[in-house]
Amino acid sequence: MADAPILITGGAGFIGSHLSDALLGKGYAVRILDDLSTGKPANLQLGNPRLELIEGDVADAALVKRVAAGCQAVVHLAAVASVQASVEDPVKTHQSNFIGTLNVCEAMRINGIKRVLFASSAAVYGNNGEGLAIDEDTPKAPLTPYAVDKLASEQYLDFYRREHGLEPVVFRFFNIFGPRQDPSSPYSGVISIFCERALGGQPITLFGDGEQTRDFVYVGDLIKVMVQALELQQVQEGAVNIGLSQATSLNQLLSALKSILGDLPPISHGPARAGDIRHSRANNQRLLARFDFAEPTPFAQGLARLLGR
Ligand code: NAD
Ligand code: UD1
Repeated sequence: MADAPILITGGAGFIGSHLSDALLGKGYAVRILDDLSTGKPANLQLGNPRLELIEGDVADAALVKRVAAGCQAVVHLAAVASVQASVEDPVKTHQSNFIGTLNVCEAMRINGIKRVLFASSAAVYGNNGEGLAIDEDTPKAPLTPYAVDKLASEQYLDFYRREHGLEPVVFRFFNIFGPRQDPSSPYSGVISIFCERALGGQPITLFGDGEQTRDFVYVGDLIKVMVQALELQQVQEGAVNIGLSQATSLNQLLSALKSILGDLPPISHGPARAGDIRHSRANNQRLLARFDFAEPTPFAQGLARLLGR
């Protein structure tokens, strides 16, 4: 079992490919299931004999069952990460974002796999934080199909924990950023878009007044926690927020970019997006109690590293 692979769904994407690198670096074997909708083979160490890439859809139950066979644990990241895509096409994104989770649960039950990490989201809290640091017990108020699917996925994982002995570690990621976050769609993560545009001298669009805030986490800091979660002897119940407990507004993000790059392209304003959350900041006490999250990368340092400065 020690040599059995860890399955990463969505492993060719931004977060998954960093996790794959970290696990391969620690000597694990990694199997990736990814439909390459936003993920890229180029993100992966394809020549590594301990890495397998299987191209396919997590919404295909029979495939997920086959791919999970023989794995020691699962990290379920496959999803349409764009909140806006779910607002525009909820039926389509539901296949990946919810049915995919149910398929993973069933595949684990049938194959006798216990440990699973799940990428839930701060989006499940909606606007309930009101600008304060949100703890995990804050009532949930999903505002978008994306958030509904993440919350329902969490609840299914909890059902499989109670009934079938799964060991889910549910993380509610706040806003993760770093290298390989794909900037190519208007719905990509804001830092990836702003950095690409700032470097290329193309105009930047701010949706709303720019005073909305996010709790940005450098991807390397998240990956260290995920590796610890795979290696925990015992899993404790309850989701864990992944955030620094620091609010950065988009206007502050633009100022930080300007001070690193010296100048910025023109900035225009568009209307605020439907379902957009105003303020999002984690209370991370549970993260600090359960995991080693000492000295996470300061925001400005992560941004400079991403920009190669
Ligand atoms: P990403 O788009 O780079 O990664 C998602 C991966 O899943 C991609 O490789 C994509 O090709 C794959 N995928 C999508 N639908 C699939 C399907 N039906 N079958 C198989 N593969 C599929 O985005 P990311 O930022 O790395 O996100 C990873 C996970 O973390 C997602 O579940 C996302 O919802 C969650 N998350 C991300 C953030 C963030 O700030 N980046 C915050 C909260 C939660
Ligand atoms: C992001 C993640 C989502 C995750 C959530 C957790 C992505 C694509 N989305 O959603 O998966 O669950 O964090 O908190 O990784 N904006 C602009 N101009 C742009 C692009 C965006 O002003 O060109 C604004 C948006 O309107 C929003 C903010 O930037 O107010 C952040 O947007 P985005 O990066 O898409 O992240 P979230 O919606 O927070």
